Amino acid sequence: MTGELVTSEQTSFDVLIVGAGISGINAAYRLHQAFPQYRYAILEARDRIGGTWDLFRYPGIRSDSDLYTFGFSWYPWNRSNPIGEGKDILAYLNDAMTTHNISPHVLFQHRVLSVEWDQRSWTVNIQCDGSQFQYTAKFLIFGTGYYDYNEPLATTIPGIENFTGEVIRPQFWPEDFDYANKTIVIIGSGATAVTLVPKLAEKADRVTMLQRSPTYLASITNRYSGGWLSRILPTTINYYINRLKRLVMGRLFFAFCTAYPKAARGMLEKGMMKELPPGVPLSPHFKPRYNPWEQRLCACPNGDFFAALRSGKAHVETGYIETVDSDGIQLKSGKRLSADTIVTATGLKLQFMGGIPIIVNGEKIDLSEKHMWNGFMLQDLPNAALLLGYTNASWTLGADASMSSICRLLKLMDRKGYSVACPNLKDSSKLEPRPLLDLASNYIKRAQGVPKAASLRPWIGRTDYFSDLWFATFGNITNGLKLSA
Ligand SMILES: Cc1cc2nc3c(=O)[nH]c(=O)nc-3n(C[C@H](O)[C@H](O)[C@H](O)COP(=O)(O)OP(=O)(O)OC[C@H]3O[C@@H](n4cnc5c(N)ncnc54)[C@H](O)[C@@H]3O)c2cc1C
Ligand SMILES: *[C@@H]1O[C@H](CO)[C@@H](O)[C@H](O)[C@H]1NC(C)=O
Ligand SMILES: *[C@@H]1O[C@H](CO)[C@@H](O)[C@H](O)[C@H]1NC(C)=O
Ligand SMILES: *[C@@H]1O[C@H](CO)[C@@H](O)[C@H](O)[C@H]1NC(C)=O
Ligand SMILES: *[C@@H]1O[C@H](CO)[C@@H](O)[C@H](O)[C@H]1NC(C)=O
Ligand SMILES: *[C@@H]1O[C@H](CO)[C@@H](O)[C@H](O)[C@H]1NC(C)=O
Repeated sequence: MTGELVTSEQTSFDVLIVGAGISGINAAYRLHQAFPQYRYAILEARDRIGGTWDLFRYPGIRSDSDLYTFGFSWYPWNRSNPIGEGKDILAYLNDAMTTHNISPHVLFQHRVLSVEWDQRSWTVNIQCDGSQFQYTAKFLIFGTGYYDYNEPLATTIPGIENFTGEVIRPQFWPEDFDYANKTIVIIGSGATAVTLVPKLAEKADRVTMLQRSPTYLASITNRYSGGWLSRILPTTINYYINRLKRLVMGRLFFAFCTAYPKAARGMLEKGMMKELPPGVPLSPHFKPRYNPWEQRLCACPNGDFFAALRSGKAHVETGYIETVDSDGIQLKSGKRLSADTIVTATGLKLQFMGGIPIIVNGEKIDLSEKHMWNGFMLQDLPNAALLLGYTNASWTLGADASMSSICRLLKLMDRKGYSVACPNLKDSSKLEPRPLLDLASNYIKRAQGVPKAASLRPWIGRTDYFSDLWFATFGNITNGLKLSA
């Protein structure tokens, strides 16, 4: 392995990556492959790598994407279960880092407080162990994810202050919480709630998922078997075939849902109906108001959610909360749910670039006024990229496609002797606005500080993997970009 390791005296870098989550780790790998001579480091605020997979510790935590596409293409996920458990994902990330010598580049407990651009480099203000200091870098890559680590989405639940039992937020699950024999109500119907229900029902007395509106659930077999072909092909080839198959199928299924929403709805409903126990009707509990893929689809591996319903320990309730009192929840319908534990699985609070104050030539940047450039840079933000993924496919595919483009841009700058690249938009009046991440979910609609995106390159947010890869290889990487020496 070439490339210098980070030493404690080093304060100036070619590239600094913020965040050692899955996107930041991938960025380090791609960067080192393309530029072995670069001095780089990953600044991570926490004590451990993994980001999301380290923060979230609720029982049953798992991916809802398959790991063949969610994992790194350069480090195949070789387990036979496509949907991975949180701890296995963490172990996989650690293995990948050790194998590729990324670990020595991670600086833990290095929280970025602010970044300042002046002329041709970034000054990064860092807090570590109670002291503050500065590093400089020519280029910054933000692998900071998309949500606030300190604060979940604020929700008002009337009367929650009068509840005498335990109120738990999944983002801060108490490590030693014993849920045996508890009567639990989970508020929410997203991936977190759907994951928690079967897991808690294993030991709890009664688990109720209380939702305002239903979500599409799709049972999937959490086992990959490649059939006879996989027995004769080498493992690596097998992996790539499997990955490609999933990429294409995912894309086709999305296209099918968009083109034939009625048929897609029918198909998903039929799947759910087959799994529901008698006495639990599809309507209203499993009849969403939106069409498939207008909001994220929820996968349940091996139908575990439905199995929990059939066991009689898990229940679904659809309705609005009138008030919470000392030992339960009163619904507007008149129905009452008693509880000794309430889990509020009500979502994430979106946050971009880690909420880090960004100062360019003395002025603080307001992200919500800036347009994304090709989904990975921002208008008026020189030498800085942001790794965002997809919401209707594995996140990491998007983060990786961005890295391909970033490496191409850095190569061009090296070759032509440019030291500054800054997306520059002269006239935004003709741009047609589009959401940055294209889901209509509640938490996305309510978000603030979200960069703008339009409908045409280069001023776009996230689109899809194939067109982003095409762009990374053949697209016009200078359109809308101001390059200077
Ligand atoms: C419970 C859950 C399940 C999910 N499952 C899936 C799934 O199955 N498929 C999918 O595609 N997506 C999923 N997602 C979305 C998921 O967050 C992303 O796919 C992915 O893990 C994000 O990786 P990331 O590295 O971009 O960001 P993160 O994992 O959020 O990592 C960001 C890192 O940046 C660090 N950081 C932030 N600010 C600073 C700072 N100021 N200084 C230093 N470091 C900082 C954080 O400490 C963290 O380590 C899930 C999300 C959640 C919450
Ligand atoms: C799977 O990958 C791990 C590393 O994550 C490795 O130790 C193991 O040998 C691999 N197993 C197979 C069957 O390839
Ligand atoms: C909480 O309990 C107090 C005392 O019983 C009551 O006055 C108050 O209205 C309750 N709060 C809500 C929001 O129901
Ligand atoms: C839960 O209930 C079972 C059966 O009544 C009992 O044996 C067990 O000790 C209880 N567990 C806890 C943690 O209360
Ligand atoms: C995700 O959504 C975008 C925009 O709606 C679409 O172009 C793309 O094909 C979708 N991606 C997948 C994998 O379905
Ligand atoms: C890229 O776009 C810029 C600005 O529109 C244009 O001047 C340039 O010729 C384009 N480059 C290629 C290779 O098409």
